[in-house]
Amino acid sequence: MSATIKPATGAQYSRIHGVGGYRPTRVIPNSEVLNWIDSSDEWIRTRSGIAERRWAGPEESVAEMSVQAAGKAVAMAGIRPEQIGGVIVATVSHLKQTPAIATEIAQRLGCGTAPAFDISAACAGFGYGLSLADGMVRGGSAEYVLVIGVERLSDLTDVTDRSTAFIFGDGAGAAIVGPSDTPGIGRVIWGSDGSQADVISQTQAWDTAFAKPDAVNGAGEEIKWPALRMEGQTVFRWAVYDMAKVAEQALEAAGITADQLGAFIPHQANMRIIDAMVKKLDLPPNVPVARDIAETGNTSAASIPLAMERMLERGEAKSGDLALIIGFGAGLVYAAAVVTLP
Ligand SMILES: CC(C)(COP(=O)(O)OP(=O)(O)OC[C@H]1O[C@@H](n2cnc3c(N)ncnc32)[C@H](O)[C@@H]1OP(=O)(O)O)[C@@H](O)C(=O)NCCC(=O)NCCS
Repeated sequence: MSATIKPATGAQYSRIHGVGGYRPTRVIPNSEVLNWIDSSDEWIRTRSGIAERRWAGPEESVAEMSVQAAGKAVAMAGIRPEQIGGVIVATVSHLKQTPAIATEIAQRLGCGTAPAFDISAACAGFGYGLSLADGMVRGGSAEYVLVIGVERLSDLTDVTDRSTAFIFGDGAGAAIVGPSDTPGIGRVIWGSDGSQADVISQTQAWDTAFAKPDAVNGAGEEIKWPALRMEGQTVFRWAVYDMAKVAEQALEAAGITADQLGAFIPHQANMRIIDAMVKKLDLPPNVPVARDIAETGNTSAASIPLAMERMLERGEAKSGDLALIIGFGAGLVYAAAVVTLP
């Protein structure tokens, strides 16, 4: 007689129960960026929509910012940290590869022995994490899952590079995903296109950067700290044309039309990309659109939960509203979904 495995059983549906963010205290206005690159406040504002960004100080580590943001999300969700059965940290800028920063964050929050791991999905990291968390809650491997998007992109910014020096910012955003009586997370439309891996990438791998014997001898080639580089126009075109289609698929998968949305929260990459997507999606003018990029810059994995928290805080969207979220970036990778706001 063959034995039968008892299957795991989870909640029928999941939703976001709480969201929280952390913004570093140091504000970098465009005027400061002009000390590094030949540009102008007007050029930066019209080409990117960014007026200022925040850069983390030495005390505002990836772990510290994450713990602060997660604490707010846990409080909003009204749960105890020990109820969290999974901690997913999406980041591309935690510079210590091993161990995952998620375990330290889980321990500091008091999540007991919850599985904790990092994922690398750049600006789609929050959506990737959300998809995993939704599956874990509904699959029965966790009751509540903490998803964090956190970046210190200032550590990977070449301040002399005119095409990126003004774009990136630091911060953390977190969400608690848990069981729900009604569907609160639509099917996540996620994917990748490795044929465009070079479009946004680190200038050189760490082993290349540090394998320069002359630099060790102090004789020749200088060790150059890796930074993020991107082909701005290629990213721009891809984001506007291909990502609008992905956003449409997420709406369709959720059975929602644009006029039923209470908010559109795209990755905060560039204001012109946001405006172009709004147009392509034919979003009704009364649907509020996240424009956090003006004050926060591009914080990659952190941008969607940061923008979500801010819209709720400012009353631009309210709990229970349906929001379309979409992240896209280095990989290239993308993830979009319709969610109910906490
Ligand atoms: C980066 C980005 C703002 C640059 O804008 P762009 O219009 O593509 O700029 P280009 O590189 O074509 O340069 C246009 C002109 O501006 C100049 N320029 C470039 N960077 C500049 C800067 N920082 N300040 C002033 N002028 C600048 C160029 O020299 C060029 O001048 P020219 O026309 O006299 O030759 C834009 O490509 C973009 O937003 N891309 C998407 C990037 C993004 O969002 N990435 C995040 C993905 S997650």
